Formats: sequence, structure tokens, C-alpha cells
Amino acid sequence: MIEPDNLLSANDLGVWVGPTQLIGAIDLTVVAGEWVSVIGPNGAGKTTLLRALAGITPYFGSVRVAGLEVSAASPRALAHRLALVVQSPIVPERITVRDLVLLGRTAHLGWLQSEGRHDHWLVDRMLARLALEPLAARDVATLSGGELQRVLLARALVQEPQLLLLDEPTSALDLGHQMEVLDLVDQLRREHGVTVVSTMHDLSLAGEFADRLVLLDRGRIARQGPPTEVLEADLVERIYRTPVTVLPPDPAQGRHGPVVLQRRPVRPSRPQDR
Ligand SMILES: Nc1ncnc2c1ncn2[C@@H]1O[C@H](COP(=O)(O)OP(=O)(O)O)[C@@H](O)[C@H]1O
Ligand SMILES: [Mg+2]
Repeated sequence: MIEPDNLLSANDLGVWVGPTQLIGAIDLTVVAGEWVSVIGPNGAGKTTLLRALAGITPYFGSVRVAGLEVSAASPRALAHRLALVVQSPIVPERITVRDLVLLGRTAHLGWLQSEGRHDHWLVDRMLARLALEPLAARDVATLSGGELQRVLLARALVQEPQLLLLDEPTSALDLGHQMEVLDLVDQLRREHGVTVVSTMHDLSLAGEFADRLVLLDRGRIARQGPPTEVLEADLVERIYRTPVTVLPPDPAQGRHGPVVLQRRPVRPSRPQDR
């Protein structure tokens, strides 16, 4: 049997803080070019998992990206393979949007080498694709949350990683920008074979873009598989503790994954309403 071309494989991955296990028994493989989204309630361990995959959080077990054990890799070797876009970044002070995006090229520069024409070309192209050109000269400190989220995505993309790790990439974006950013990531995946692992808050959007979903519940994988197998009403209701209705995909209407709609809990009517 021919093994699939796994870009990422995590085996029996666990993260502990002192005596507390934040995530555990995580087995996850991601094929090159695939998009996997991690979903789960607040505090389920989505960010912790992403940080472990990126080598930022110490872990037990194994995480291999492009054949390299993440915890043993040098920052430079890691930066050639993966980029992580975090949710609450620490941004340097007094830096323009363009210069911040240019920092994404750092791992590709030699010792004391400054950016060349190719680096600047890549940055300009990415600013254009993310409609960030009008903001290029702005101080990053003056950006809105959504603008900053797009700038950080641009910085990660010019790094040209094989694996793109996105922690709730659309949480600060309005409807139009959500679709724009996710569609751009999807195009880059198709054009350049970038592999994507994202955490997503919105279940319908997660199912729309990902090939596979991983549902986390209290640090463990409750289910993983194609969106239609994970976004099942009874499972989502049990884990999120709220009533939902799930509509099946309808590609003719531009919906390639299930839609998860929230329902208000049924309450006994109040006497004054009768
Ligand atoms: N450094 C830490 N020390 C103690 N608990 C932590 C630490 N980091 C995260 N946690 C806890 O681990 C759980 C999972 O957190 P997180 O991965 O951020 O969840 P999610 O991203 O799914 O909302 C939460 O209960 C959080 O409070
Ligand atoms: Mg999180």
C-alpha cells in the first residue's frame, strides 16, 4: 500500500501545564494541499493544538512537519516549513504595514543580507491581493482589528510556508472580508499547494472551506472527518450544549458544506403571554 503524502502528522500529541492536561491523545495527519479546520467550544484546546503544531508550545508525543520533528527544529528551518497567524499578536511599535509584511521574508534572507527585488515584489503582490495597498504606508498601530488580521495573513503568506496555521483567521472580519480572506487562502492552496490547518469559530464557514474537520471537546478529538460527518446536529448539540438545525450542502446555491443554524431553546410560555 502506498502511504499518502502526509505533510503533517501528529501522534499521541499532548500538552500539559503543570498537572493539568490541556489537550491529549491527539492523532492527526494532514495530506499536502489539504485544508483541515479545527472546531470546538471555547476552551476546547484549539489554540493550544495549533501552538503545539507550530512548535511554540512544548508538547509530549510527536509532531512532524515535512519530515521534521517540530520541537527539535531550528526556528529558521521551521519558518521555511510553516507560518502561524495568531489571534492576538504582539506587534512591533512604529512600523508600517509594508515593513511588517516584509518581515515575513526574514527566514529567506542570508546572514546580514537585506531584502532584494524578489522580496519586495512578493510583498507588493500580496498587499495587492489582500487589498492592503491603501494601507501600505500606515503605522500598524492605527489599524482596525480586521485590517490587522489581513496584514498578519499577508506577512505569513510572503513567508511562502508549506503549512499555513491560522488561528480563527476571520474572527475580526465582516462578512465580505471573511469570504475574501478564506477564498484567497483557498486559491493559494490550489495555485501553490499550500496546506492549511485553521481553527474556526463559525461552523458553517469551517465546513464550507475545509476538506476535513476536527472537532475538539475538552482537549480530545470527539470526531474528525468530512464536514457532513462532523457537523451532525446531535453531535454539535451535545458538545456545544445548544439546540441547532443543520441544513445539507447545496452546491447549486454556493454552499459546499452543511449550514449550522442556531435555535433558541424552547421555554415554557410565561403566564402573561397566554
Ligand atoms: N498556559 C496555560 N495555563 C493554564 N491553562 C491554560 C493555559 N493556556 C490555555 N489554558 C487553558 O486551556 C484550555 C484550552 O485553551 P485554548 O487552547 O485557548 O482553547 P480554545 O482556543 O479552544 O478556546 C482553556 O481552558 C484555557 O484556559
Ligand atoms: Mg482559541
